[in-house]
Amino acid sequence: MIKMGSTQVKKKKISLLFVCLGNICRSPAAEGIMKKIVEKNDLQDVIEVDSAGTSGWHEGELPDERMHAHGEKRKYDFCSYARKFRKSDFDKFDYVIVMDKNNYNSVKALADSPEQIGKIHLMTEFSLQYGYYDEIPDPYYGNSSDFELVLDLLEDACVGLLQSIKNHYSLI
Ligand code: 4NP
Repeated sequence: MIKMGSTQVKKKKISLLFVCLGNICRSPAAEGIMKKIVEKNDLQDVIEVDSAGTSGWHEGELPDERMHAHGEKRKYDFCSYARKFRKSDFDKFDYVIVMDKNNYNSVKALADSPEQIGKIHLMTEFSLQYGYYDEIPDPYYGNSSDFELVLDLLEDACVGLLQSIKNHYSLI
């Protein structure tokens, strides 16, 4: 059972959906990083994590091999299959966390209510050390330092995201 403030109680897990364009670089990396942080904090029974893309261009594919290789150097195994974001994700997830402003606009266009719009957050809202970045830059046409930067930004923002969730839900 998850306490929210003094009175409300949430019975379902807190659910996070990371969203980028292709769901093969940034959002599966965010998913893998966040899952590891959740496990380290022994919160697997409290927080669940998934990812999706605003496009269906890479549906069914494993993460981009460059993203996978850069993740492996940091002991991650990014291994989720790409899927497209769907309207029903607004009902299923508490947080819809997008990587850039294009993703924000694509997801917002599918929202039906202010409550759904309120679930959308830019990943960089949670940045701690890298507060001067206002989005997670798309590395797809970039080089290896672009992929490393994505991982630096995501690791930092995932720590900030967990802090923010802990504050909001009064988790230990
Ligand atoms: P992602 O990166 O949105 O971080 O998964 C991209 C993946 C594929 C493409 C663009 C960005 N693409 O043009 O196919």
